[in-house]
Amino acid sequence: MGFQRRGGWCQCCQSLVFVFLLLCVKRSFAQIRYSISEEVKDGTAVGNIAKDLGIDLRSLKERGFRIVSSSKDSLFQINEDDGILYVKGKIDREEVCERSSVCLINLKTVLENPLEVHYVAVEIADVNDHAPIFPEREKRLEISESAMPGARYQLQAARDPDGGTNAIQMYKLSTNDHFRIDVKERGEDRKMPFLILQKPLDRETKKIHKLLLTAVDGGRPPKSGTMEITVDVLDVNDNMPVFTKDVYSANLNENSPVGTTVIQVNATDLDDGPNGEVFYAFGNDVDSKVYKLFELDPITGKILVKGNIDFEEQRSYEIDIQASDKGHAPLTTDKSVMIKIIDVNDNIPEIDVTSFSSAIPEDSRPGTTVALINVHDRDHGLNAKVTLALPDDADFKLMPSTQDNAYSLVTKSQLDREAVYEHDIVLVATDSGEPSLSSVKTIKVIVSDVNDNSPEFLLTPYTFYVTENNVPGQSIFSVSAADRDLNENALISYQICRDCDDDSKFTSALNINSENGMVYALKSFDFETVKSFQFHVIATDSGTPVRSSNVTITVFILDQNDNAPRILSPLSSNGSAEGLEEIPRNVNAGHLLAKVRAYDPDVGYNGWLLFALQEVSDHTLFSLDRYTGQIRTLRPFTETDEAQHRLVILVKDNGNVSLSATATILVSVVEPKEAFAASDVKGSLKDEDENNVTFYLIITLGSVSTLFLISIIVLVVMQCSKSTDYSSKYLQDTNYDGTLCHSIQYRSGDKRYMLVGPRMSIGSTIVPGSNGNTLVVPDRRSRASTEVKCTPRYDIPMCVVQVCVCE
Ligand SMILES: *[C@@H]1O[C@H](CO)[C@@H](O)[C@H](O)[C@H]1NC(C)=O
Ligand SMILES: *[C@@H]1O[C@H](CO)[C@@H](O)[C@H](O)[C@H]1NC(C)=O
Ligand SMILES: *[C@@H]1O[C@H](CO)[C@@H](O)[C@H](O)[C@H]1NC(C)=O
Ligand SMILES: *[C@@H]1O[C@H](CO)[C@@H](O)[C@H](O)[C@H]1NC(C)=O
Repeated sequence: MGFQRRGGWCQCCQSLVFVFLLLCVKRSFAQIRYSISEEVKDGTAVGNIAKDLGIDLRSLKERGFRIVSSSKDSLFQINEDDGILYVKGKIDREEVCERSSVCLINLKTVLENPLEVHYVAVEIADVNDHAPIFPEREKRLEISESAMPGARYQLQAARDPDGGTNAIQMYKLSTNDHFRIDVKERGEDRKMPFLILQKPLDRETKKIHKLLLTAVDGGRPPKSGTMEITVDVLDVNDNMPVFTKDVYSANLNENSPVGTTVIQVNATDLDDGPNGEVFYAFGNDVDSKVYKLFELDPITGKILVKGNIDFEEQRSYEIDIQASDKGHAPLTTDKSVMIKIIDVNDNIPEIDVTSFSSAIPEDSRPGTTVALINVHDRDHGLNAKVTLALPDDADFKLMPSTQDNAYSLVTKSQLDREAVYEHDIVLVATDSGEPSLSSVKTIKVIVSDVNDNSPEFLLTPYTFYVTENNVPGQSIFSVSAADRDLNENALISYQICRDCDDDSKFTSALNINSENGMVYALKSFDFETVKSFQFHVIATDSGTPVRSSNVTITVFILDQNDNAPRILSPLSSNGSAEGLEEIPRNVNAGHLLAKVRAYDPDVGYNGWLLFALQEVSDHTLFSLDRYTGQIRTLRPFTETDEAQHRLVILVKDNGNVSLSATATILVSVVEPKEAFAASDVKGSLKDEDENNVTFYLIITLGSVSTLFLISIIVLVVMQCSKSTDYSSKYLQDTNYDGTLCHSIQYRSGDKRYMLVGPRMSIGSTIVPGSNGNTLVVPDRRSRASTEVKCTPRYDIPMCVVQVCVCE
């Protein structure tokens, strides 16, 4: 009996033993029961056992009242004197009874003489002297954010040594949104707290939850113990990357260098660790072109230029970009990035000649279209706004067409193939970019010929000099005309104008080679018959319509010495130059015996006659003036002189091959009176003969005087215009005695000089100057030459110069 031991008893056994004890005590002994609180003071009286048992106090001492056995024997003692049960030491119920709901300590008390056994039960009443204590002050929990509401997490229960109502009654959790506490009763007096997830966790919202769990016992006042619960929310890849901007768009200049950053995309992922690490890639259906042109940095999200960006190829790109995290089951987000390419003026304008007539007739009216031109530029906007221009001085201009960028090139003025036969038209196309680009194109326009030019004679009018006695059928001169046109428009044929009011007498005697303009004379000309004539030659080209022009040709016939001098007086009856002179014997020296008159139809030297005595019986008697033909006596006649004299006078011209005639004069010396009468008769006879001669003389004299007058005028004019040196030299010529000059006609080339002749000897030469315009008259005295310049003038067909050089 009374085998209670500390610890180790199962509750069931305890209960059984207790019930058995009770039965035993009831059957044989009365039982006393006391109750005290635990932790009362040492020596506190529990109860008077003796009195309660009805035992006589006096006999107590003798009977030896004592506690025999007790499960907790040291806890109580009995005072033998009064039988009171005292507490010995301190009673801790939790120590004695652990957590039993009823803590009874059974004491076996013994009285001897007679032996009496009394059982005393002392109930130790619990006092709330312990607070609940958690085994750990802190608890860390890791809960995945994917945990579903209702998930339970067991927590360690708090312990409270107090029993009964003083044991833990409840658990409380600090206020929070996500958790509540659930307590599960585990048998007697044991409560298991569970943390229950009420609302899903979001690591991204709150990463750590701090909770305070409080265990409260049922004491009055209640005591409590706490535990800190830290919930770490474990990340789950439940967030996808999110781009920071709704729209990504960028402008990019074309031709941007490789490596240029176009735009940077940015996506963030709220998740943690790899679940929140974002990398970028091009979307799945991105064009392969994009791969060639752009590069996407997977880490920074920068889009970089990789290839040659050409606006003309594509003006914008829409690139799909995918941002992914690195979770086990990665989450991705797509975004499209707009890249707009900005044009740069990198294309030169192009000039297209769509329609072009390479040859344009020169008679095209101003405004004729030569070419249609298109300009275009592959750039955009202002960079593609092209203006086409021509240099200002061009014969062409550009007419903008109604169509954009189309022009027609038209002639601005009348073209002239003869002036410019080929136009290189420089077209300059310039765009309006900054800086602007331009291109140049040259078109060659050939002006085709139109018969717009008449043939032109090289000289107009022509003057030709033809020597008389030409051989018929031979060419005498040629004319030539040129035509500034081309080909048949310039193919010239010549013909003599037959209806130009020219004297048909001459035109019929002429023929012309229609191809080369060579003029042929069909007959021989005679200077003495005709000195000059005019005719016209027409030059005609072969164009359509035909154009022609004519030229006046003046032909001067040049004299040849083809006529011998003719003696006019004295004339014999049979026409030969023979005369009879009778003179009185008493005439003085210097008496004019006769004058030989001769005529030569030729002109110039060819007609300049000189007289000479060819035969004379007595040289001392007669003299002949070389120039005048006057025969004079040199001395008076003497008695010894013969009565008959025969003079043969030679008259010759000064032609290159000189021609001459002779006259014979018979002189008979008579006695003075008879002589007078005979002379008178002869004189009257002669008058009739000389009537004709007089006529010639008058003409000659008149012309000579006129020429002299002109020569004076010309001389004065020349003196004025020549240097003073020259004039003084001329005027100082003391030998100049104003003697009558002879006239000489001289021609050289197309000029004609009339020299009023000096008393030059036959040997004097007149040499045309080297340029044909100058006559050089040798001056014997000064051994110098006098140059007389004569400038030919067309309005005056001949130039008359008078030079008098006198010996
Ligand atoms: C991306 O956006 C986040 C949030 O706005 C910012 O902190 C980060 O610096 C950005 N990254 C880049 C590369 O701009
Ligand atoms: C010759 O030319 C002139 C003008 O140069 C013209 O007036 C004339 O009619 C022409 N004569 C002929 C026959 O062609
Ligand atoms: C002319 O007559 C003269 C004599 O009177 C003579 O000597 C001369 O020969 C004649 N001349 C001619 C050409 O007959
Ligand atoms: C003169 O005639 C000869 C032959 O008859 C000729 O050789 C010479 O050139 C001529 N002189 C002139 C100046 O005509």
